[in-house]
Amino acid sequence: MAHISIIGTGNMGQAIAAIAGKGAHTVEQLNTSDADKQVTGDIVVLAVPYPAVEGVLAQRGESLAGKIVVDITNPLNFETFDSLVVPADSSATAVIAAALPDSRVVKAFNTNFASTLASGAVGALTTTVLIAGDDADAKAQVAEIVTAGRLEAIDTGSLSRARELEAIGFLQIKLAAAEKVSWTGGFGIVA
Ligand SMILES: NC(=O)c1ccc[n+]([C@@H]2O[C@H](COP(=O)([O-])OP(=O)(O)OC[C@H]3O[C@@H](n4cnc5c(N)ncnc54)[C@H](OP(=O)(O)O)[C@@H]3O)[C@@H](O)[C@H]2O)c1
Repeated sequence: MAHISIIGTGNMGQAIAAIAGKGAHTVEQLNTSDADKQVTGDIVVLAVPYPAVEGVLAQRGESLAGKIVVDITNPLNFETFDSLVVPADSSATAVIAAALPDSRVVKAFNTNFASTLASGAVGALTTTVLIAGDDADAKAQVAEIVTAGRLEAIDTGSLSRARELEAIGFLQIKLAAAEKVSWTGGFGIVA
């Protein structure tokens, strides 16, 4: 059983808390008004918009040492809505990992719309959470939370794969914004 802190209590923070709860993990949820509260989880999910991550890390970075940090962000350029704000050969996860050298940083959940995490399904398919990171044990712990929450998990490889996961997340958002797929749908996976 893991103790999980989720920073951000919006759509994704609530959906991930519900998944973790199904696996009987303990969950602590922190929002903007909890800035002075300690993060007590061994696994910390950054469920905030990418522009807020820098501030969270500036505030809490030292206390995240030794912990597994889960980056779920899609670092969209909100001005143009036409690109990501991280360099094309990098990712939000790589930026976060560089800022947290003493944490084990994992990418997960960014290719899933919150509604499909909550429902457990993309159409007729069980929702699959794609995971990337350089630490096998950290990825396995995140995958266990996902599968205990009755979703599927796939380890896509090293932290370098976060770049592709962010591209998939970005494309899925573009398709939904253009009403070509539904916000309750998106990409499903047949293993
Ligand atoms: N929604 C999706 O379907 C989806 C899918 C994949 C990935 N994502 C990613 O998931 C992340 C969260 O998205 P969301 O849809 O859950 O957003 P959201 O519903 O707008 O929620 C964002 C949450 O972050 C909180 N927050 C902002 N700055 C904070 C800080 N410094 N400390 C603590 N909490 C802070 C907000 O609190 P306040 O309300 O108090 O500001 C709010 O609870 C984003 O990075 C997004 O790219 C979203």
